[in-house]
Amino acid sequence: MKQQLAYIETFGCQMNERDSEIMAQLLAGAGYQPAAGIDDADLVLLNTCSIRAKAEQKVYSLLGRLQRNKRRKPDLIVTVAGCVAQQEGAKLSERQPLVDIVIGTQNIYRLPELVARVKDRLGPQVAVELANDFAIPRYRGEHGAAGSAPKKRPVFKKFVTIMQGCNNFCTYCVVPHTRGRETSREPEDILGEISSLVEQGIREVTLLGQNVNSYGLTFPATAPHGRVRFPDLLRMVAAVEGLQRIRFTTSHPKDLSDELMGCFAEIDKLCPHFHLPVQAGSDRVLARMNRKYTVGEYLAKVEKLRLLRPDIALTTDLIVGFPGETEEDFEATMALLEAVRYHGAFSFKYSDRPLARSTGFADKVSEQEKSRRLTVLQARQNEITRERNREYEGSVVEVMVEGRSSRSGTGQMSGRTGSNHTVNFEARGLQPGSLVKVNIEEGLMNSLRGVLV
Ligand code: 5AD
Ligand code: SF4
Repeated sequence: MKQQLAYIETFGCQMNERDSEIMAQLLAGAGYQPAAGIDDADLVLLNTCSIRAKAEQKVYSLLGRLQRNKRRKPDLIVTVAGCVAQQEGAKLSERQPLVDIVIGTQNIYRLPELVARVKDRLGPQVAVELANDFAIPRYRGEHGAAGSAPKKRPVFKKFVTIMQGCNNFCTYCVVPHTRGRETSREPEDILGEISSLVEQGIREVTLLGQNVNSYGLTFPATAPHGRVRFPDLLRMVAAVEGLQRIRFTTSHPKDLSDELMGCFAEIDKLCPHFHLPVQAGSDRVLARMNRKYTVGEYLAKVEKLRLLRPDIALTTDLIVGFPGETEEDFEATMALLEAVRYHGAFSFKYSDRPLARSTGFADKVSEQEKSRRLTVLQARQNEITRERNREYEGSVVEVMVEGRSSRSGTGQMSGRTGSNHTVNFEARGLQPGSLVKVNIEEGLMNSLRGVLV
């Protein structure tokens, strides 16, 4: 029989990227090889994101394009996974008859079984149950993956999911509805995964969760690991020999404890970068977002973090044009940018999401006004980012080599600092994953440029 080929397209966050890796391995186990492109595939999997309307639309336009492939190859299996699958469920395959499998965020492990059912001509398969007591299956090693073309660079860093789901219900957010309730993996399972990754040459891990600060809160108190919380987990991970760098994402400011902040002073392997989404600079808007902190409380934590780890780089997420956001509220967000001077920020226009509470809020800000505010905010943040990058000029930073620079010139290599900045420098033949010192000569908009010390 001809070899079956699979192609995976991933949208959205790192959580989806990690889930795609797992699904690629499951497909390999089911006999699939990676397809070179979407048009060669016998199975196409779209791992989707519904955080904003724009992300969701990408899926529908790709499904539109796939109509042709399905006509040409009627046995093509089209799978939609991730947050759009979870949000839409059976409606998706009803409205889009080319979709064979709709697989929700807690059901990815059932992929081989659903593929087999489609092959047995049992019709469209939908698996989107969200259980309140869902447990992430134990780690069983990395195997060859199908669906993603072989990596061009050797792999030396990985995402490791430590918890998923969210119990916070920020009013704008679809995540609690698409990822379900918080659930944490047992420390032993996580450490086993990281140890085996390190044995395979991994030097850096990013611990992933919708809100890593809530890690362990759902453990039964009587379990052996019942009292392990995120700072404890960080210390355990730091003790894994051979691992050089630890990162994590994402954190909710309200749950950022003194103990966790202390980890930045205490744990050398913990990279001096903190992504701390603030969302808005007005207390009134924060309250309507159900964020449960004030700007004052947030700024106090920023100050403390900087005292504990003076070289820490802070980044954030911001939403403009939340329902009811006035010009004055927006000015408060602009003032917050000046107060914190973030090293970088992701900013978005507010977008109504099905199931999110703010979709029902009155006083929507017009599309035009949202665009204006976003432009103003991004222009100022870009200046600050550039100024921040220039602050590195003349300093020597530690860089983990990633590979040849994507930027033109021969002989350029690139890597990443602990602060999560990309650095380009003249060098040849350095092994990806190795650590080098670079003297920074120039801070640019999106990267730093320097010379090897
Ligand atoms: N509209 C706009 N941005 C949103 N985000 C989450 N939900 C929405 C929404 N409905 C942003 C937040 C979050 C980031 C991942 O996406 O800033 O931190
Ligand atoms: Fe969404 Fe808020 Fe949970 Fe983050 S903390 S995933 S923004 S509900």
